[in-house]
Amino acid sequence: MWLNSVSTILLAMVPAEGVAADLSHLNKKSKVTGYAFDKKDRAIEKAAACLTGCHLVLVPAGVPRKPGQDRKDLLNINCGIAKNIVEACAKYCPEAVVALIVNPVNSVVPAMCELWKKKGLKPGKILGVTSLDVVRVGKFVHELTGETIEDIDVPVIGGHAGTTILPLFSQCPSASAISVLKIPDLDKKVQDAGTVVVAAKNGKGSATLSMAYAGARLGRAVLAGLNGEASVECAYVASTVTELPYFASKVAFGKDGVETIHPIGDLNEYEKGRLAALTPVLLDEINAGLEYAKENAFAA
Ligand code: LMR
Repeated sequence: MWLNSVSTILLAMVPAEGVAADLSHLNKKSKVTGYAFDKKDRAIEKAAACLTGCHLVLVPAGVPRKPGQDRKDLLNINCGIAKNIVEACAKYCPEAVVALIVNPVNSVVPAMCELWKKKGLKPGKILGVTSLDVVRVGKFVHELTGETIEDIDVPVIGGHAGTTILPLFSQCPSASAISVLKIPDLDKKVQDAGTVVVAAKNGKGSATLSMAYAGARLGRAVLAGLNGEASVECAYVASTVTELPYFASKVAFGKDGVETIHPIGDLNEYEKGRLAALTPVLLDEINAGLEYAKENAFAA
């Protein structure tokens, strides 16, 4: 049986106990407990009961974008919010996998990984959730081709913002029917999908429901790995598969979290061009995270 903790801040529209009661009715082998914290609370002082014993901490936190904003506009505020939670994980569940759904993922994940390492903890435990990009591309390819959704598996590599999101259509047989002429627009549709949701929500937030679905998909893969079952999902992790120190690609999960990072495989000319163009963009965003880590440290 899995024990699930749900924690929210007190100013959330729905009290944590309500969310916990709601989730507790799902007919799964789990027990759900709610915890609520004040906006000013430091998780390291208050979240011992919530985090102790956790194997996986999914962190859907931070301020969402407003229309017209870029994910990187959220860097300082959301790095602070992520640090509050991740430093508490370092204290109460240092063996857990910590999966961050905090924008800008491209910078927040390097920042938290470096702070985690500074603390002397095992790397390979912190990752950025990018499975929503895989979910989106699967839906869009299905809409274009009519192929069975479950058979569509387009790896999405790079990062989780704008041009750094690179779907590898050439590696998915179900996408082979799509004319090469249509690929650039489809690629752009995947890159812009989060922005479309932000615009449609008109200042009232960004993707939450599809993100919860995607987070659950990633969570299932991590838990399967921890249980000793083979599982692979795309995620944004410390990586050596390209020249970039952090990169999203297919990751195999195992008993210790991230087990193997798959190589990116063969790319066609279009994808090679896209990878070359995104590399300096992603590097800048990674460096912004590394800068944050230099200037900050986890509380003891
Ligand atoms: C998304 O892709 O939907 C999220 O990263 C939220 C956003 O700001 O786009």
